[in-house]
Amino acid sequence: MAEIVIVPNADAAGELVADAILRLVGRTPDAVLGLATGSTPLSSYQALAAKVAAQPVDLSAVRGFALDEYVGIPVGHPESYRSVINREVVQPLGLNPDLVHVPNGALDGIQTAGDEYEAAILAAGGIDLQILGIGRTGHIGFNEPGSSLTSLTRTKTLTEQTRIDNARFFDSIDDVPVHCITQGLGTILRARHLVLLAFGEAKADAIAAAVEGPVSASQPGSVIQLHPHATVIIDEGAASKL
Ligand code: GLP
Repeated sequence: MAEIVIVPNADAAGELVADAILRLVGRTPDAVLGLATGSTPLSSYQALAAKVAAQPVDLSAVRGFALDEYVGIPVGHPESYRSVINREVVQPLGLNPDLVHVPNGALDGIQTAGDEYEAAILAAGGIDLQILGIGRTGHIGFNEPGSSLTSLTRTKTLTEQTRIDNARFFDSIDDVPVHCITQGLGTILRARHLVLLAFGEAKADAIAAAVEGPVSASQPGSVIQLHPHATVIIDEGAASKL
């Protein structure tokens, strides 16, 4: 059973996540973080950046692995997850960009990109703390409903709902990529600590299914119930259907 923490708002969640990361890095300066994109983890990254600025902490040895990337998007596109991770995480936290990995979504080499990413995570010794958001479809990473519970990093097709939800980051829905490469549910389960974040009533159904529903490929977030160390940090809105 995951530990459920209900907080007043996203900023309060960000404080908790930032403190957890600082404790981890205090013990393990070259800790391996699993990095989520989307709007949900931003308060965590911002809180961590503020703490690092206030009490200098050296994060230059910290390693990172993003959860996912769009396929076929130019790597320099402002909404590629490589760009987002650089902008929201690497630069504000002063991480070494060479130590922060994002799945390779370039069409050239896409057949082997998943296996290469898995090998890189294994070579790093695995992920210590994996930050997760959750989509309204119940996806974690980009593991849409129907994803195998033991899946590893691979390409997937985005659901129409997820493309609609992510259209806000692009000029129009036609610009939202159709395919992605994502850590699998099996990859995510290998991380030593999962921290799932969700805010707002729009996430209430997905959180209820993830936390209390049956463990099922139709609700990818429900795999957190299989993990021995999972923490769910949510606000009242996201908790409203528990
Ligand atoms: C995105 C990402 C997920 C994220 C989810 C929720 O598409 N691939 O990793 O958790 O959808 O996004 P948001 O946090 O913006 O609601």
